[in-house]
Amino acid sequence: MIDFSHLSNSHRRAMELVREAAREKNCRPYLVGGPVRDLLLERAVVDIDIAVEEDSSALARALAKLMSGRVKSFPQFLTYKVTADQMPEIDIATARKERYRSPGALPSVTPGHLRDDLLRRDFSINAMAVDVVEGALHDPTGGEADLRARLVRVLHDQSFIDDPTRIYRAIRLASRLGFSIEPHTGELMRNAITSGALITISKERIWRELFLAMDEGGAPAILTAFLTQGALDVLFGKRTADPARLESAREQIERNPELDRHVLYTATLLRGDASPVDLEGSGFSQKRARNIVQIANELGRFADALLEAKTERQRLRVLKHASPEMLGVLAATQPAESRHVERFHEYQNFKLPLRGNDLEMPGGPHVSRALERTREAVFTGEIPAEHAREFARETALRYLKREEAKS
Ligand code: CTP
Repeated sequence: MIDFSHLSNSHRRAMELVREAAREKNCRPYLVGGPVRDLLLERAVVDIDIAVEEDSSALARALAKLMSGRVKSFPQFLTYKVTADQMPEIDIATARKERYRSPGALPSVTPGHLRDDLLRRDFSINAMAVDVVEGALHDPTGGEADLRARLVRVLHDQSFIDDPTRIYRAIRLASRLGFSIEPHTGELMRNAITSGALITISKERIWRELFLAMDEGGAPAILTAFLTQGALDVLFGKRTADPARLESAREQIERNPELDRHVLYTATLLRGDASPVDLEGSGFSQKRARNIVQIANELGRFADALLEAKTERQRLRVLKHASPEMLGVLAATQPAESRHVERFHEYQNFKLPLRGNDLEMPGGPHVSRALERTREAVFTGEIPAEHAREFARETALRYLKREEAKS
């Protein structure tokens, strides 16, 4: 019997409602995959995955009704997602058999028994099910023993060839749980990589795995393992890992969660030699891609420009061209610059008690530019604060004349 008692309140409530819906529809749901693994490890369960051998749509609809929630259906995967306020997301799928017609292709799916559904999965620790009504554990591949031995093990020798995304999943899962990759599984994984299995999947799918890795707390170790195993050669060519820089990126993200972690980690992976071609399939917007290339390629140039700057005004002008992520990297990697980056942040927050109207002149872009120039002048001590209005007026007039002369 599996103990559901250390699930959170909302997860326990969700499981009760699944039981109630099952009674109503006379079917037998199983909790499957990741949540079973996490339940047995007494780790927090996030999403709830349910499999049924019967009609998953009837169970999904009954459950949504009990939860006053909504159902979204994904017919090609025989899956339904039930969501409701204050409830975990619940996926309900018809137990299925999968067949891989060619390596790396998405499998064809047909309804099957619970056992088929467990045997099609990636690792033994993800191939267990718990009967939601009776609490009995179904573990046809020795997953519980592997949990105890702290091992990530595939179910058959063809696994990484059928679905090469499992290469990334194995490394990510082992790192997250502090497990080892079982030696034979490790050998299969390395063979799959060297035999070119990763060429059979799209770059988009690889990037999806890469982003999942970057979302983990232990991202530096996972990304380092991806690189050292050669699992990213298909995207970036051969590159060496720099664990210390990845760790520094992680620390920056931890200190400032607003930073774009995908941008920062990707720039760190591509450090010194990034081009837009490296980002094919990533889905990064042009702006984020530019940011990555800038951090990866231009950090040295930025640091030089800062060294050459003689005045604070010159330094601020260099720093204005850096993204928040670039500023983070600069401060972390060039200790001499961290004070300047801090000053720049102060400058960004520095406000002048002066508005466009205070200048008593016709409005236009010359006014906002002059106010910005005045803000800089007061901040750097070029002029005392009490001269701000006069300075701003003179500057605005000068800009206005220049604009008029041009037109
Ligand atoms: N699965 C698989 N092969 C894949 C992806 C998923 O066999 N390439 C199976 C695994 O059994 C997994 C389940 O589908 O447990 C659900 O996948 P996913 O939600 O990605 O992973 P979880 O194990 O739930 O892990 P996480 O905690 O990262 O969500």
